[in-house]
Amino acid sequence: MWNFFDHYRASSTQSLTESIMEHVYENGRRYHLKSKDQYLLPSDETEQDRLDMVHHLHLELLGGNLTMTKFDEHPANVLDCGCGTGIWALEFGDEHSGSQVVGVDLAPIQPGWSAPNVKFELDDLEKKWTYPKNHFNFIHSRHLNMSIRDWPRYLGQIFKHMAPGGRFELSEHTTDEWFTDDNTMPEDSPMPRLFRVLRPCYRALGITAMSGVEYKRMVEEAGFEDVKLYTFKVPIGAWAQDRRLRRLGAIVAETLRSGIEAYTFNLITNVGKVPVEEAKKLMTDSVATLSDPKQHAYYFEYFITARKPLIETI
Ligand SMILES: C[S@@+](CC[C@H](N)C(=O)[O-])C[C@H]1O[C@@H](n2cnc3c(N)ncnc32)[C@H](O)[C@@H]1O
Repeated sequence: MWNFFDHYRASSTQSLTESIMEHVYENGRRYHLKSKDQYLLPSDETEQDRLDMVHHLHLELLGGNLTMTKFDEHPANVLDCGCGTGIWALEFGDEHSGSQVVGVDLAPIQPGWSAPNVKFELDDLEKKWTYPKNHFNFIHSRHLNMSIRDWPRYLGQIFKHMAPGGRFELSEHTTDEWFTDDNTMPEDSPMPRLFRVLRPCYRALGITAMSGVEYKRMVEEAGFEDVKLYTFKVPIGAWAQDRRLRRLGAIVAETLRSGIEAYTFNLITNVGKVPVEEAKKLMTDSVATLSDPKQHAYYFEYFITARKPLIETI
């Protein structure tokens, strides 16, 4: 009997070799060697802990739910793109015993053990997908804004390999600016200064910072219908009056404390040519503002839900 998992394993991972497990170290952080040219962030334990913390932040945002999408029945075949530590895929598989979940990532940072209905695969989502066409009933893609360079092609592949009527959920966030409603983060304060250095580096690497509206437009252009955008304003730091928002802000600040170096240091020193000492000071000053209750900064988390038409029109 034809089996999707056997088929996929044979066609897509047959070329994997020992080299997939190799790492390099830079500035005390561990990077996965095979993904180093494509993906900026490290894959060490600090980064894995940060990814799991961000997962919990999403659960808080979505009232304990793993998705914004509501399902009438378990989607049979599910793909989690750029699954990171695999935490979302494992929890989704646990909640949906009738689903077969595939988590795919460039880096081998998923657990060696797994649930019977969850599999992890190593592959590059920017290459031509080897999955069957019209196959997945739900595709989940979260926080790949630093990963995907060719978004129209990526969304086109998602569309092509999704079953008619299948559901898609994309979650992304603002990457190159923070906001305030009360001017408590002046232009000459550390974070706006850091963003001014980061923006040209992103551009040089082909990373495009996009708004929720732009992501939504691209999802529509890929052919999806019933495309909805949900935008959450998320505080950075524990400054909000509301208790729930204060807790969210505290989690965000913690993810940034452990992530800011990974997101910025190599980039601004190697690509932006900022001298090492200056870069260190900019990062230290930026991190310090995370515990400043006078700075009322926030960013946006975007959730986009969509469906592939039952009858293909493009
Ligand atoms: C910021 S993490 C998000 C992880 C996960 N989606 C989550 O929300 O916890 C981005 C992940 O995408 C993976 N990645 C980057 N480029 C990729 C590519 N071209 N193909 C597959 N995975 C990729 C990275 O290895 C990393 O695990």
